[in-house]
Parts: sequence; C-alpha cells; structure tokens
Amino acid sequence: MSRLLITHAKALLGTHTAGTDLVRGSRMAQLPLIENGWLLAEKGRITALGPMDDMPEVPEGPDLTVIDASGRLVLPGWCDPHTHTVFAAPREEEFVDKIKGLSYQDIAAKGGGIVNSARKLRAMHEDDLYELAHHRLVEMMRLGTVAVEIKSGYGLTTESELKMLRVARRLKENLPLQVRTTLLAAHALPPEFANDRAGYIRLITDTLIPQVAAEGLADFVDVFCETNYFTVAEMEAVLAAGNAHGLPGKVHVNQFTSIGAIEAAVKHRALSVDHLEVMEPSDLQALAHATSGPIPTLLPSCSFFLRIPYGPARQLIDRDLPIALATDFNPGTTPSGNMNLVLSLACIQLRMLPEEAVNAMTLNSAAAMRVHDELGSLTVGKRASLLITKPVPSLAFLPYAFGNDHLDTVLIDGTPVRSGTAFA
Ligand code: NIG
Ligand code: FE
Repeated sequence: MSRLLITHAKALLGTHTAGTDLVRGSRMAQLPLIENGWLLAEKGRITALGPMDDMPEVPEGPDLTVIDASGRLVLPGWCDPHTHTVFAAPREEEFVDKIKGLSYQDIAAKGGGIVNSARKLRAMHEDDLYELAHHRLVEMMRLGTVAVEIKSGYGLTTESELKMLRVARRLKENLPLQVRTTLLAAHALPPEFANDRAGYIRLITDTLIPQVAAEGLADFVDVFCETNYFTVAEMEAVLAAGNAHGLPGKVHVNQFTSIGAIEAAVKHRALSVDHLEVMEPSDLQALAHATSGPIPTLLPSCSFFLRIPYGPARQLIDRDLPIALATDFNPGTTPSGNMNLVLSLACIQLRMLPEEAVNAMTLNSAAAMRVHDELGSLTVGKRASLLITKPVPSLAFLPYAFGNDHLDTVLIDGTPVRSGTAFA
C-alpha cells in the first residue's frame, strides 16, 4: 500500500519534533501529543500529520487507504533494544525448580542456565533455529514491536556464535521489522575453556569480534559482567576490542551484584547499560556524572519472573538520566517478548508515569539500539511503524488494565502486520 491516511485519532502520541534523539529526567514525563489528529504515510514514511481542523485535502485514488481512528490512540511502535530471541528451547523445567525454591545461581550451578541453552543450540540446525525465532518475532510484531535487538550468546563457540548471528541476519532480511544484532559471546564461560578464561576472552577479542565486524554480522558487543560470569577487566577487554572495530557496547551489568561494571562501561563509552537491578550509590553517581553516557535500560519483566529487585527508575530520572525499557526475552529469565506487559510493569513496579514509560519504550529504546533516526516517534520523515489501539478511554488505561490486549492494528513501514477493526 503506498499511501495511508489515519483520521480522527483520539490522539497521536509521541509527536516529538525532528531531531529529538531521546528524553531524559523530568522531560521524560512529557509525551507530546496532538488530540483529534490525522497522519499521512507515503511509501512507508510519515509525510504529514496534524490536528483534524487543519487537515488538507488528500487526493483520493486507488493507492490510498483511509483508517478512521475515532476513539483510538495512535502511538509509535515499540522498540525492544534487549532480547535473546534466537534460542533452541524453552527451560520450563528450571521454572518449576525456581517455584520449589532454587535460585538462578543454584540452577546454573547444577548445569542448567545459559550452558544448558548452549548445549541445545549447538546441536540444532540453523534452519530450525531460524523457524523458531521467526515464529517468536511474528508474535512480537503482533504485540506491537517494530524494532528488536537480538543477541548471540547461546553458542559460546566461534561456529555457534556465528550461526546465531547468521540466523538473526536472515530474520532481518525476511521480516519487516528493524533488527539490530549484538555479539554476546561473553555470556558464560564455555565448559571447553573452564581452565582457560583468558583464552576464551582472547578468542572473542582477537577472532570473533574482527570476524563479525568484517562480515557485518553484529552492530554491538555485549558481556554478562557479573559475579561467577565475567569480571570487569574481562568486560573492559571486550568493550575495547568492540570499539576498535566500530561495535559499541550494550552490557549486562548489576543484575545480581554491583562489582564496578557501570563505571567501566561509562569509561568505554558503552551505548547502554542494561538490567541495573542492584545499584549502589557509586553506580548511580557514575551514570549521573557521565556526559552523554550509556542509556540505562531496565528490564522489569526479568525482575518479575526471577523475583529480584526492580531497577531504580525514579532515582535515575531524579538524576536527570534517560531510561529505556526492553523485554530481555530469553528462555532463562524472561520467557516473554511482550512490550505491553513491560509497559504495565514499568508503571506498576518501577513507578514510571505512563508518559515516561511510553517515551522509554519508543524514543529512548530506539536510541538504545541506534534506530532513533528512523523510529521511536510520530515525526515526519520517520518510518510509519505505528500502533492503533482499540477504543480506549486514555493513555493510562493501557498499563492500568494490565494483561489485556489493547492493540487493534500494527503497521510497519505503512503496511499492516496486524489489522483489526479500524480497517473495516
Ligand atoms: O539477560 N543475565 C544474563 N543473560 C540473560 C539470561 C540468560 C539465560 O538465563 O539464558 C538475561 O537475563
Ligand atoms: Fe539479557
């Protein structure tokens, strides 16, 4: 479809002015909007929008689709900047162990966890991995996700890490949503390197990073910097090698313990620091003192699933920092790629205002995966990747009535990937 006209929207939300890269601190509570609005998309891009009173004559024609969005909200599509969507199998047996009282660390100690996922992924054919991840992403698009970051990290060998990234590249080529990819070879120490930590880090810095950079297989690098996983010094080596090859860091830090990873991530100009469930005053200070430092990215559905603390959203906002939100979709800590649930948890558990949460999962999350020039707001020139809700009383109703499906239509580049009654 080459032209799409949305009329009579109850509100167009997230109409940030061109050039707004992200919002921080108290500005996060301002979600610009146009009440009773219209929006025109041509060839997949937003070309004009405004209030109904000022709508110009739009020439009719067979290429024009008109959607009457009376009573409905129109929002930028969700950008999910932290996922592990390519994996071989779910781990619901560990879920049952957790119900019986085992912790994430207990499960890893008895051979479960990341290494369990790696065993299965190594044995799986690339085509089967692709089919499984394709299915998950189709469901995520139906739930409103228009851009996704996908990490490797369940291969933990050169061959299997590259296999994961090739699967992600095929998904990017074949699906309409925007995909960015991250090399997370430093996710867990593979059993083969149990007695040679330094050798594994060297494999990442000297072989994998140069190769994925040369083949354009990854946009970013990541490290699970955590007690019993990788040290701050090991993370620094990976971040330095990533920077040398044009791959900025997006790192797992402060999920269970605070070991100085944030300060190091700031030093190495990481694009984002993700998780942040366990934060010491020095960690907050390191972030607050960084000028254009990493974007704090919170993953409340991981906290929900593991029953661990929630990230300190209010303290970050009070320090004039931006926040991005993501699902962390993975088989171990967050078996859900649903950004609508993230919206509810952000409001209920992180105490973010609905406006703050929507900015965090559109504009700021687009910035946390470097797609903010194209996505994250209803702005002329950006991709027409947007959500049309069912008739709802207000924005706050979306997170408030949690667990319900409030979306009617999802458009990616002006084309519906889900069309509801708004099309009738
Ligand atoms: O983001 N924390 C490290 N990585 C994932 C979990 C990986 C797994 O358990 O499979 C996370 O929570
Ligand atoms: Fe993660």
